[in-house]
Parts: sequence; structure tokens; C-alpha cells
Amino acid sequence: MRPSRVEIDLSRFERNLKEVIKNSKEKLIMAVVKADAYGHGSIAISSKAQAIGIKWLGVGIVEEGIELRNAGITCNIQILSQELDDRVEEIIKYNLIPTVCSRSFLFALSREGKRLKKNVPIFVKVDTGMGRYGLLPEEFIYFLKTARSCDNIEILGAMSHLPSADSDEDFTMNQMKTFKELIDTAKSIGIDLKINQIENSAGFLYFNTPHFNMIRLGLIIYGIPVKKGERINYQPVMSVKSRISFIKTIPKGFSISYSRTFISKRPMKVAVVPIGYADGYDRHLSNKGYMFVKGKKCPIIGNVTMDGTMIDVTDVKDVSIGDEVEIIGENVSAWDLAEIIGTIPYEVVSRMGKRLPRIFKY
Ligand SMILES: Cc1ncc(COP(=O)(O)O)c(C=O)c1O
Repeated sequence: MRPSRVEIDLSRFERNLKEVIKNSKEKLIMAVVKADAYGHGSIAISSKAQAIGIKWLGVGIVEEGIELRNAGITCNIQILSQELDDRVEEIIKYNLIPTVCSRSFLFALSREGKRLKKNVPIFVKVDTGMGRYGLLPEEFIYFLKTARSCDNIEILGAMSHLPSADSDEDFTMNQMKTFKELIDTAKSIGIDLKINQIENSAGFLYFNTPHFNMIRLGLIIYGIPVKKGERINYQPVMSVKSRISFIKTIPKGFSISYSRTFISKRPMKVAVVPIGYADGYDRHLSNKGYMFVKGKKCPIIGNVTMDGTMIDVTDVKDVSIGDEVEIIGENVSAWDLAEIIGTIPYEVVSRMGKRLPRIFKY
């Protein structure tokens, strides 16, 4: 097996989900498993979630939903982005729940539902401040009325999304207020939106309002805090490990890797770790990131290459080929790497490549 690998601790995932369930005030819980469950492996993660009793999963695209159906997942699966009109046949065939915010998509679903003699459950999305998918609030009620009059369309509920629940309380409260008012207005004209979802991990951790009965969680079920360094009752599920594949001692003045961005200032011991940017190990970690070997922090030296990264192991006692390397784990968090390369942990974990085998610990 390839020495570089992603280890997924499913018992931690289970504990994280149980912690969510404990704090959920009995709301419906959607586990967001898009992007291969944020790089964790969507089939194993979804199977575990289903086994624990989670009834809702959120994917990003049709293909992710189909993959889960083919693996035997029977949960409700919502596609969290609005798809194009020509995907309606697959959406209905695979029993996926679309997110809807345009008339043409709504009509395409209705036509296809009629043709296949199937009811199509949908969530209608309103944009209360995310600025991505969603009707403007002033369009929402009219759209609901249109949807209600469409053949074979069953409105399950409404959804919206929070862009800054971790950082802007006023803005988030306003979004929730708008969302609640729209739900109330819909009710007053006889449209009972039974399921309403707006809270993501940050929304759940910092607001957890009683007004909406479904939460849609990604980051924290994978044990990653919403804010760097924040202590939470959720433990990281993913670790990334490798083993040293080569070691050499170089003299002073020796250059390392492409473009010769690192020149040794003293004789030193250099190890090659067989993971590179083609594995999703970001090239911006060149000369900035670090890994851990035998409990010692080993800086990355030179540029990260496609398949390999060099680290300074001069201070690691008795280091040898085959030694275990921690890339993400107890000493290096996804947040640590994200901060070095100027991104968010979502990107770090979801980009861990397909070349890295996923090893599941039960
Ligand atoms: C529409 C939608 N809902 C929920 C989530 C989950 O967010 P988080 O991982 O912050 O819980 C995402 C993630 O990007 C999303 O796009």
C-alpha cells in the first residue's frame, strides 16, 4: 500500500455526530457529505451516519448523490446546489432532492415528474445574504405560489445559507429574521413549509435558534473547529500520514528542489516524504509548512514537488527510511496548514487527493 495515506477515524466521527444529536434540540440533522465528505470518503462517512440514525445527507452535485445511491444509501439526499435543467431525469431517477431557485428548473422538474409519473420533492432556496444560489426575498413568496401550482412538485420546505455566522452576529441575525418572516408569510397564505434549514456549523454552534427545524452540518461533524484554536467537543476525524522514502546528508551550500529556493546553511539531513501537490498537498507550503517525525517538528525545505516533499530531519534522533511522518494529526491541524497557505480548513481537507488511500479505523 502507498505509504502516504489519509486515515479516517470513524469512531470519532460517530462521537461527533452523537454530540451533535445531544445538542440539536431535536432538530432534523443533515450531514453535509459533499466533496467526498470533505475528503473523508463519502460512502464510509454516509454509511456511518445512516447507521447512527441520520436521515438526511447533503451533496454538492448529482454525481455525488448517484454514488451514494449505488452504494446502497437510503437516506434522503439533497443536492445543495441548483443543478442545470438537463439533469432532471437523473435527479428523479436516483431519488435525489433538488435545491430549486429558478423557474426554468422548477418547470423542468415538474415536466419530468409528470412524464415519469413521480412526485418530485424540492427545497426552495432563498438568498438572505449569501449571494450565491437563492431567490431574492422579495421573489420568494411568488415563487412558492408558482411551485405550489406545478404538477408533480412537492415543496418539502425552505432553505437559506449563512456566509458569516462565525464573525458577524448582526448580519446573521438579520438573515434569520428575514428567513423567519418569509416562512411566516408563506404560512399565512396556506403554504406550510414543514422543513426549514439555514444553520451550518457556525450557525449551530453560535445561534442554534428554535425557529428552524433542520441543521445542515459539515465542518464540525468532521471535528474541525469553525474558528482556529477554538476548543470544541468534536474531535478531528482525518489524519494524513506518510513514511520517509529516502534520506541523505547534504553539505553546506547544497540546493533543494525546483528553482533552488532553499540552500543549506550547514550540513544537514534531508528526508523525502512521498506526498506532493498532485496529492492535494499545497505547493504554497514550500519553505513554510512542517511535518512531524518522532515527535519533532521538521520544516519543509525547498519547493513541494508533484510527488514528493523534502523536510529537514537533522534534529531527529535515529531517523531512518520508513519512519512514520505526521502530515495532519495531533501536532499539525488542518487549520495550521490552512493558515500557512492563506485558506480555510475546508479546502485543506477536501483537496486531499484520490491518490491517497483512505484507511478507515472503526
Ligand atoms: C449550502 C451549504 N450548507 C451547509 C454547508 C455546511 O457548512 P459547514 O461545513 O460550515 O457546516 C455548506 C458548506 O459549504 C453549504 O454549502
